[in-house]
Amino acid sequence: MTAHQESIIDQFTRQAIPFSKLYAHTNQESLYLLREMASVSDKDTVLDVACGSGIVSCAFAEVASHVTGIDITPAMLEQAQILAQQKNLINLSWQQGDIETLPFPDATFSIVLSRYAFHHFLQPDVVLSEMVRVCRPGGRILIADVALPPDKVNAYDRIEKLRDPSHTRALTLEEFPKLVADANLQNVKLAFYKV
Ligand SMILES: C[S@@+](CC[C@H](N)C(=O)[O-])C[C@H]1O[C@@H](n2cnc3c(N)ncnc32)[C@H](O)[C@@H]1O
Repeated sequence: MTAHQESIIDQFTRQAIPFSKLYAHTNQESLYLLREMASVSDKDTVLDVACGSGIVSCAFAEVASHVTGIDITPAMLEQAQILAQQKNLINLSWQQGDIETLPFPDATFSIVLSRYAFHHFLQPDVVLSEMVRVCRPGGRILIADVALPPDKVNAYDRIEKLRDPSHTRALTLEEFPKLVADANLQNVKLAFYKV
């Protein structure tokens, strides 16, 4: 295991319960916006990349045919299982692992999403290309994360690393569109909400 993977697991084992209960992470309005952006329906099979405690996975499972969540931190996945049980959702499965190499064949899912995790990745472009690989042609990719003005990002990263050393780097408002363009994604939509 790499030092970065160890740091992620250490941090999110500590944060698993408080993270899952924070209103900023669970409020319905932002979850509905994500569902709307992805145009999720009962025909969709969804992959939630770095699913954590399953908040977004469960919101999508209320609509989709099936949702798979993958995350490296067992304590977060334990919270995800509890949340799915509390919501009486049975159309989810959970997998532990690193997301730089997704353990799924090409074109497995119709929606591949990731919320609040890109700022933890060492190679966001590699993760996005894996997300694209496992998404069916004509499917949808959804990324939700902090996106900062370039003149604020260094200060933000410095403060975040004090709070959570597994933070790598927030992408800027200019870098996200470039990341998506470099991955050759089409029909790109953008929306903002405050956390
Ligand atoms: C801030 S939490 C977000 C959880 C969830 N996506 C949400 O929005 O509620 C970040 C999650 O990313 C996971 N993570 C970070 N890097 C990862 C990696 N390389 N492989 C798998 N999971 C990773 C952590 O374990 C953690 O659960």
